[in-house]
Amino acid sequence: SKSYSIAVIPGDGIGREVVPAAQAVLDLCASRFGFSLEWEEFDWSCERYVKTGSMMPEDGLDRLRPADGIFLGAVGFPGVPDHVSLWGLLIPIRRAFDQYINLRPVKSLKGVPGALSSPFADKIDLCVVRENSEGEYSEIGGRINRGREDEAAIQQSVFTRQGCDRVMRYAFDLAERRSRRVASATKSNGIIHSMPFWDERFDAIANEYPEVETSRYHIDILTAHFVRHPEWFDVVVASNLFGDILSDLGPALVGSIGIAPGANINPERRHPSMFEPVHGSAPDIAGQGVANPIGQVWSGAMMLEHLGEPEAARCVEAAIEELLADPSAPRTRDLGGTAMLRDVTFALKSIISH
Ligand code: NAD
Ligand code: IPM
Ligand code: MN
Repeated sequence: SKSYSIAVIPGDGIGREVVPAAQAVLDLCASRFGFSLEWEEFDWSCERYVKTGSMMPEDGLDRLRPADGIFLGAVGFPGVPDHVSLWGLLIPIRRAFDQYINLRPVKSLKGVPGALSSPFADKIDLCVVRENSEGEYSEIGGRINRGREDEAAIQQSVFTRQGCDRVMRYAFDLAERRSRRVASATKSNGIIHSMPFWDERFDAIANEYPEVETSRYHIDILTAHFVRHPEWFDVVVASNLFGDILSDLGPALVGSIGIAPGANINPERRHPSMFEPVHGSAPDIAGQGVANPIGQVWSGAMMLEHLGEPEAARCVEAAIEELLADPSAPRTRDLGGTAMLRDVTFALKSIISH
């Protein structure tokens, strides 16, 4: 029968707890739909860095290249500086495989109280399309005069025409399959070179999609509108940093960062895409068995969709929705419950198997 080869990188902290839980749920679902997932596990992590001096082996990227998908938990742990761990593993994967789309859906779910009391709080259904390869996350810049009174750090943003156009086209294509609305996150009143250019490219791409309604907000007021009027938004396209911020704010509105899924996509499928939750390694709760596995499981559903198994993806999502809608079902602390990760995993598996 059909099988897909998946590179698994549990990474650090709760990544090591939620990844095996999600693998079990996905395996069960795969067997129901007549395919299998061939997992190849890589122990690349901060622990590896402490032992060997590098987050992954020198040929690490080449070893991931043949995979049909990459399933990642989280990277980063106290003891190794974040810029070392993230630029030693997560960011090189996103860049080497040209995963220039970071897709992060935000949806209110029955039974999950969000942070909002607005009458529209239970009708949130938006998608953050984050630029994932350039922008504010550039390697250009440096430190000068270290340790002196006049020391400084300079960080160059890079916005290319190709980089803007491709993420914007992806956002418009997605909107055509949703509610035909795209909002752009900008800051062209304060950031003098890059953001006016971002706006210019947004207008140019918008012209290719006359049937899609567009809006644009400066990032400061956009965060306020996310809280006050989340129902205004369908697809939201944003630069790397603005998209990072919006994709943590969004999940807070509808519940918990512990359930938020994400996908790092190479739309041309020239390279493997990578599926990882929005949250990090949560060192504050790591090792206790209390992390919510749903964000990881749901990211797995996005992976199944990408692999061309939409029914299986729907099955996983339906199980998540059924679990969360049931007031008597186990839920972890981030959702106000007292259940352990294993209880939630077990409950998801029993929903899928009946
Ligand atoms: P975080 O997402 O790890 O944690 C933020 C808060 O949310 C913590 O209180 C944590 O306990 C809680 N939380 C997160 N996921 C949860 C889950 N599944 N269930 C229950 N509670 C959950 O963010 P942070 O504290 O800013 O970062 C911690 C580390 O993770 C840092 O090293 C950071 O760089 C890294 N990080 C990695 C990724 C990634 O690999 N994609 C993403 C974000 C942060
Ligand atoms: C995320 C994370 C990463 C990012 C960090 C850990 C580099 O916050 O995936 O959202 O900023 O992209
Ligand atoms: Mn983030």
